[in-house]
Amino acid sequence: MTRHHFPESFVWGSATAAYQIEGAATEDGRGPSIWDTYSHTPGRTLNGDTGDVAADHYHRWADDLGHIADLGLSAYRFSISWPRVQPGGSGRFNQAGIDFYSRLVDGLLERGVRPVATMYHWDLPQELEDAGGWATRETALRFQEYAAGIVGALGDRVHTWTTLNEPWCSAYLGYASGVHAPGRTEPAAALAAVHHLNLAHGLAGRVVRELAPAAELSVTLNLHVIRGASDSDADQDAVRRIDALANRAFLGPMLDGAYPADLLADTASVTDWSFVREGDEKVIAVPLDVLGVNYYSSTLVRAWDGVSPRSDADGHGASTSTPWVAADNVDFLPQPGPYTAMGWNIDPPALTELLLRLHQAYPSQPMMITENGAAFDDVVEADGRIHDDRRIDYLRRHIGAMADAREQGADVRGYFVWSLLDNFEWGYGYDRRFGIIRVDYDTQVRTWKDSAHWYQRLAATGQLPDA
Ligand code: FCB
Repeated sequence: MTRHHFPESFVWGSATAAYQIEGAATEDGRGPSIWDTYSHTPGRTLNGDTGDVAADHYHRWADDLGHIADLGLSAYRFSISWPRVQPGGSGRFNQAGIDFYSRLVDGLLERGVRPVATMYHWDLPQELEDAGGWATRETALRFQEYAAGIVGALGDRVHTWTTLNEPWCSAYLGYASGVHAPGRTEPAAALAAVHHLNLAHGLAGRVVRELAPAAELSVTLNLHVIRGASDSDADQDAVRRIDALANRAFLGPMLDGAYPADLLADTASVTDWSFVREGDEKVIAVPLDVLGVNYYSSTLVRAWDGVSPRSDADGHGASTSTPWVAADNVDFLPQPGPYTAMGWNIDPPALTELLLRLHQAYPSQPMMITENGAAFDDVVEADGRIHDDRRIDYLRRHIGAMADAREQGADVRGYFVWSLLDNFEWGYGYDRRFGIIRVDYDTQVRTWKDSAHWYQRLAATGQLPDA
């Protein structure tokens, strides 16, 4: 007996990102990105790991497509490396880079797998960062040009174009807390980055509409489920403030056509938001075919009482600078376990809650889970197998939570497990493994973990086992 059945039309996929898997960092004309610079800066990543080689997917892409096909997945979400296709971030395109993605897309189509391409999964060409990065408006205009180049080349062979992956991380972790590239700790620049990323999304979205009218348009957001430590007005105001920074700073302009007034008021001491120009919000509100939702864990906040020791357990990495701009009086509390190897709490009901909130706010908006998954310390048995029962349990509970939301009306059309392969987990390097397929980084051999076999069965039957 299984409680949850998915229809045949439900999309089962897996996700990756260019810098995390490709390697070949200097091959065939690829230019440097902010993640090359950042990971090569001593002290920035665990063990000094870089994406120079990663999972060597640039050379092994055909084998990797074989794994996707063998898993029986109907879609694959990958990202295009901007510095591989337009090395300096403006002007000249690099044909060798475009050809790589063209082969990848054709390879997916030949295997009956839908290409879901993310235009930006964090690897900004270094030259653009040197000119100010996402803190400047010019970067959004350059993104529009880049989008026109790749959409022009790949067009509607790509089934779904996703403009940005998790602009929250790009803006706040990149420019406020500095635990991601480019590693800046400038709160005002982080809010400018929020807006220029939103603008980049709108501009690129219009490019998709124009150049690939048959393709679907989406964006992927890492929306936070934020709970208050109590019902007190102060704690609930902390929830509201963090919700504005984390969620409504993106949902507002993208889906409601305007920045929320409370966000502008909360952050008035940091910026006057004069970088938002007349007409920008209209550009950003390009209608979406699919809203991509990434979910891993939940957030617990309280208003600081002025005396208790401070707590910053927000799950976003240790830094002396906070990603939470103008929220100095909010504490992020440790959550009850269990936890994954990232130290993130496991909270499947929060995913149901998130999807139902979105469904209530935007009833006609189709959604997809574009990332969900877990890092655990995998053990390779003597026979070479990897019995990653905790990962299976994590996936099963979250897919069940998504099914609960669907049964209550949320229009969720697909699920992409993060990740197809073990890969370069940003600041945590190769230490944290999210793959359903193991990568031995010495030999680059791929081995299916038990979770891959489990996911293959789910994709084939559409039936979620109860245990
Ligand atoms: C998300 C990122 C993805 C991966 C997972 C674990 O924030 O989009 O690249 O690192 O977290």
